[in-house]
Amino acid sequence: MTQTAAEKVNAGKDVLIFDTTLRDGEQSPGASMTLEEKLQVAELLDEMGVNIIEAGFPIASNGDFESVQEVSKVVERAVVCGLARAGEKDIDRAGEALKGARQPRIHTFISTSPVHMKHKLQMDPSDVHAAVISSVTRARNWTDNVEWSPEDATRTEHDFLCACVEAAIKAGATTINIPDTVGYTVPQEYGALIAMLRSRVPNIDKAVISTHCHNDLGLAAANSLAGVAHGARQVECTINGIGERAGNAALEEIVMALKVRRDAMPFETSIKSEMIARGSKLVSSVTAFPVQYNKAIVGQNAFAHESGIHQDGMLKNTQTYEIMTPESVGISKSSLVMGKHSGRHAFRNKLEELGYDLGQNAVEDAFRRFKDLADKKKHVFDDDIVALVDDEIAGGEGVLKVVSLKVVCGTEGPQEASLSLDVSGERKSVTATGDGPVDAIFNAIGELFPHTADLQLYQVHAVTEGTDAQGEVSVRLSEGGKTVTGRGADTDTMVASARAYVSALNKLVVKRRKSAPEALKVS
Ligand code: KIV
Ligand code: ZN
Repeated sequence: MTQTAAEKVNAGKDVLIFDTTLRDGEQSPGASMTLEEKLQVAELLDEMGVNIIEAGFPIASNGDFESVQEVSKVVERAVVCGLARAGEKDIDRAGEALKGARQPRIHTFISTSPVHMKHKLQMDPSDVHAAVISSVTRARNWTDNVEWSPEDATRTEHDFLCACVEAAIKAGATTINIPDTVGYTVPQEYGALIAMLRSRVPNIDKAVISTHCHNDLGLAAANSLAGVAHGARQVECTINGIGERAGNAALEEIVMALKVRRDAMPFETSIKSEMIARGSKLVSSVTAFPVQYNKAIVGQNAFAHESGIHQDGMLKNTQTYEIMTPESVGISKSSLVMGKHSGRHAFRNKLEELGYDLGQNAVEDAFRRFKDLADKKKHVFDDDIVALVDDEIAGGEGVLKVVSLKVVCGTEGPQEASLSLDVSGERKSVTATGDGPVDAIFNAIGELFPHTADLQLYQVHAVTEGTDAQGEVSVRLSEGGKTVTGRGADTDTMVASARAYVSALNKLVVKRRKSAPEALKVS
């Protein structure tokens, strides 16, 4: 008899990577992304070798529906997945959104723990059991690739969990995900739970078992790997570990743990680990969620050796203190790139090396900015180029553009900003004061382009070391329940601040247009 896809996966040593940065990751408060940003992330994940991309929760909003629809169109290799609760409307909405996907998957879920069934769903276990069957059956009418999750599985009674898993597989689920929704479990317990399901559910071999661990106790990656050790062959995770509350298992931790400790965990993933740093940087910059300095794999200090003893060891042999190379996760050591004498050709090559695929005009604009930067700054590093190009992309096409800025600041207030903006092709100028230079700039923008958006986050980070470093500013604005993030980079932090605020406003203008009644119609 021929094996099903699930049986093949179960018999092998491949661990499927299911990335939920665009769904569970985006659920982190403040981590919302625009459609364009989601497409950028999806394309990168696809290129990186992620097996399944959970693109959103189509019933949640028209924006989510549209993102799943658009991600479905651009993803070439990975399965594209949409989340749905157990109701018919949810499932049909997910099915509709995924119509354009080469390989669609519907992921449907319902809570199974006593506390969730009683207080959240207010349903009896027998009704939940019936809903498992009807939801999976309905999803199977759309696609034969259906994943089912018992939400809060780690606090679910085992007999009931087994009964629901068996029913879901019988109804046609091909992946069974076991969420540790509240980040409560510990590795030995989670591993035993997966082993228990494998030994007690009679049809379990017909589905791939998946892990989905939250990080409330800092154990998400360890729990996921314990699941793999006991037979799970799919891991759900996010870039930089973003997600609800303390986040989800971090993709980079799972992938590198499996790669570096293949001796202890003999499994493979299809991830091109050299793309990890790029993915981390992209997700951090589009969400304005900084990466913790000492974050495993992608933190700024993950490969830094400060103490004399360590540095001495490293000089003698890198293996003394390094269990993996920075290059293996895409951090290049030769990060000093170019100076003011570097030409267009070298610049274009550098952009390609950094993973950018820009059109001719965008390359020209970025090259001009690079030349200006090289005039101001002694050394131009890879990170400078990344910040500069991201700034160019963020500044892009909007109705507003920063033309010029002069700021007066110091111990004698009030601080003052003289700003000129291009507003839909018209030059407008004003001088405004404020409680500090940043406040003065933002007030000036408000006078030239009145709006009601609230500033939720203002964050500056130095792109490289040194007092001549570019400042990269992130600004998060919120208006009528819509949240956007803007960013700007410049050696002058005030200019970067103006650019970041303007880039956020440009995105808000696009969102406002999209939420006009016409734009809400989805085909
Ligand atoms: O954490 C969780 O339980 C979830 C489910 C929707 C899979 O994200
Ligand atoms: Zn989750």
